[in-house]
Amino acid sequence: MIAICVGIWYIIYMIQNKNYLYAPSILSADFSNINAAINRIQAADADWIHLDVMDGHFVPNITFGPKLVKDVRSHTKKPLDVHLMISEPEKYVEEFVNAGADYLTFHLEAAVHAHRIVERIHAAGAKAGLSIVPSTPVTQLDSMLPYIDLILIMTVNPGFGGQALIPECLDKVSYLKQQAKEKGYSYLVAVDGGVNRSTVAQVRNAGTDVLISGSAFFKAEDPADEVRVMRGK
Ligand code: DX5
Ligand code: ZN
Repeated sequence: MIAICVGIWYIIYMIQNKNYLYAPSILSADFSNINAAINRIQAADADWIHLDVMDGHFVPNITFGPKLVKDVRSHTKKPLDVHLMISEPEKYVEEFVNAGADYLTFHLEAAVHAHRIVERIHAAGAKAGLSIVPSTPVTQLDSMLPYIDLILIMTVNPGFGGQALIPECLDKVSYLKQQAKEKGYSYLVAVDGGVNRSTVAQVRNAGTDVLISGSAFFKAEDPADEVRVMRGK
């Protein structure tokens, strides 16, 4: 009984004291004034800047390419977390890393030779991330777990901001954190899609390390307060 109580207390203590990384997605920013978006992120003391690259093929929306990543890079020292929602990501690895991506994440569903792409991201000098959409079982990532630095779990179908989080996807986060603990992997797990004040408790409780949030951050009246609330401190 005492052991169970200590165990529960320890889990609560760990959740309350964990330092979450918060990454606003500029997808919800005004693209005609990206500098204002960067300033908002910096003033709010968020950790990373999340950049959603969409090609109108892998997802039904089009955003921007390496040029914008490069321009953002020249205005901030914050880590740039580039999320490629594009077909044939292998065509653009070096371009995005050279543009200034610190983390370059591509979709497992868009890649035949995921291991080779991860090697190329590392060789180019960035950290490698792998993402899956809600319909992809998390176990499809198993053979790649030893090689990656970040796993991005999509909790909405990718393409648009402002959608509702699909709670069942959070079981994938718990699975990945358990795998990391058992096998000694060191990747971070990010959750992307529908992360806001109403959902953040369940997102954090699943074991998420990186909270990605677009519409909630850019709609917030007080962005610094938004970051504090989302981090839980
Ligand atoms: C969706 C993108 C997300 C998006 C999240 O395809 O990958 O990064 O910006 O937006 P919200 O937080 O509004 O769901
Ligand atoms: Zn994203």
